[in-house]
Amino acid sequence: MSKLIIGNLKMNILSPAQQEQYLNLFKKELTGKKINNCELILCPPAIHLPGFQKAKIKKIILGAQNMFWEEKGSYTGEISPSMLKNFGCAYAILGHSERRRYFCERDEEVNLKVISALKNGLKPILCVGESKSEKENNQTLSVITRQVKSALEKVSRAKAENLVVAYEPIWSVGTDEIPKSNEVMEARVLIFKILTGLFGTKYAEKVKIIYGGSVSASTAKQTCLDPGMDGVLIGRESLVPYEFIKISGIINDK
Ligand code: PGA
Repeated sequence: MSKLIIGNLKMNILSPAQQEQYLNLFKKELTGKKINNCELILCPPAIHLPGFQKAKIKKIILGAQNMFWEEKGSYTGEISPSMLKNFGCAYAILGHSERRRYFCERDEEVNLKVISALKNGLKPILCVGESKSEKENNQTLSVITRQVKSALEKVSRAKAENLVVAYEPIWSVGTDEIPKSNEVMEARVLIFKILTGLFGTKYAEKVKIIYGGSVSASTAKQTCLDPGMDGVLIGRESLVPYEFIKISGIINDK
């Protein structure tokens, strides 16, 4: 199963000039690199999707950072799954902790988004994970269980192969603090167990379970390779093509 290396560019790349610079650097860094065991996925701000699509960087698959669940209509400021699909996206990050925190996204809304993404042929990258205080209060496993179960309510097992679940401890996102590999492994085992309960083992095995939170070239081993994760979701380091490709190389060559 190929690993996923996903870049979440968040609200960065502020102008057409910066977009061009980023894409040129990216192309340059990829030149001559053999990355055959990984899918490289970039999730830029939606306004950059046409530019990223036009750049036709070989091997790069596009994803969105968010989406609304409705198809079309009077929803000022929102972007629908069909729009994303038609502008070249294959994936959509859903339920990211920053969306939950700053935009009050709740489990029920994340569930509607997951269902809608799958219906429209987009692969959801469902983010789950506990906050610092939840970790300190030994609630990690119960938070993950609640988030995964509610996000996947009414999702049929036939769609399992299109699902990605990203374990992203909130206290690790943007902080340079990372969990121990056995903690990541524990989250992985739990997520797999929940998926098995929902879909059965055969289908649960098709879901990719990845790690996100302060992933860098120096943390990729501890957070992805050692705990046997199916890939990574990278924030800050994806803004530097050199670092993104370096992480991809480390995971690819394992
Ligand atoms: P980070 O972000 O790599 O900057 O910690 C990860 C994420 O938010 O997905």
